[in-house]
Amino acid sequence: MKKSAQDLKEKISKAVVKRWMIPALTAFVVIILIIIAVFYRRGPQVIAPVEPSASPSAILNPGNISLPSPELRSSSSIESVLKGRRTRRDFMDTELTLKQVSQMLWAAQGVTVDWGGRTTPSAKSTYPLSVFLIANKVSGLEPGEYQYIPGDRTPIHQLRPLKLVDLKKALFETLNESSFRNAPAVLVITGNMGKMAESYGGIPHDKEVYLEAGHAGQNLYLQAESLKLGVVTISGFDEEKVLDLVTIPDTDTIIYLIPFGIPKQ
Ligand SMILES: Cc1cc2nc3c(=O)[nH]c(=O)nc-3n(C[C@H](O)[C@H](O)[C@H](O)COP(=O)(O)O)c2cc1C
Repeated sequence: MKKSAQDLKEKISKAVVKRWMIPALTAFVVIILIIIAVFYRRGPQVIAPVEPSASPSAILNPGNISLPSPELRSSSSIESVLKGRRTRRDFMDTELTLKQVSQMLWAAQGVTVDWGGRTTPSAKSTYPLSVFLIANKVSGLEPGEYQYIPGDRTPIHQLRPLKLVDLKKALFETLNESSFRNAPAVLVITGNMGKMAESYGGIPHDKEVYLEAGHAGQNLYLQAESLKLGVVTISGFDEEKVLDLVTIPDTDTIIYLIPFGIPKQ
């Protein structure tokens, strides 16, 4: 009698477990899936606007976007790239990959050695240049302005979202330069004259900053040629008008605007 009561109790509890087990497990899986979906919808980017930093080397921010590692090999020789280098102002309305953009940013200011040396030389190893990316059509990037974070001693090679608004039309209309019409990406090279003066005991040395921007510009020409991209280095613009559109630190002067993309022809 006692045994059959116990059997009955066990049978009931098994039935209860069977009845609730599947709905409970289903609910658990659904909750996990909802959490994953919410996390992915939020994406890796931080909502702009964010203030740009005058010392982009040191910043490490969880909202930054890691760039693909730069390629260190190519099938084109330096000589063929020098021979083929040309200014190209007309671009296809084609999206660039993040890999192509990453390679261009690295060519402009990437850190290449453990003491902080970069792809461009710098007077007294000052590194007064900053690079900003205006992404119009780049895979994986919302249109807007980003700051390139090269790193200090260790390469960081990231993008920091600054202002996630589409600037393409405004840039084209403000600057009235055909190269901005379709360019999927534009680099803005700025220089911190105060930082260079500090390296010279407080005596201004702006010349060195402009020369360094020239080195970065040539790197970009050669890298673009090797990637079969087109590029134009532009210094003829009204800085005040550009400052109305882009966000750069008060310490910096805009030296170059550099649209690039897949060249037409
Ligand atoms: C310092 C500098 C500033 C330049 N500024 C402009 C510019 O404002 N607009 C433009 O369309 N091209 C600009 N260029 C590109 C030159 O017009 C181009 O280099 C020149 O026509 C020679 O052509 P190539 O680069 O194909 O040899 C600039 C080039 C340099 C080096």
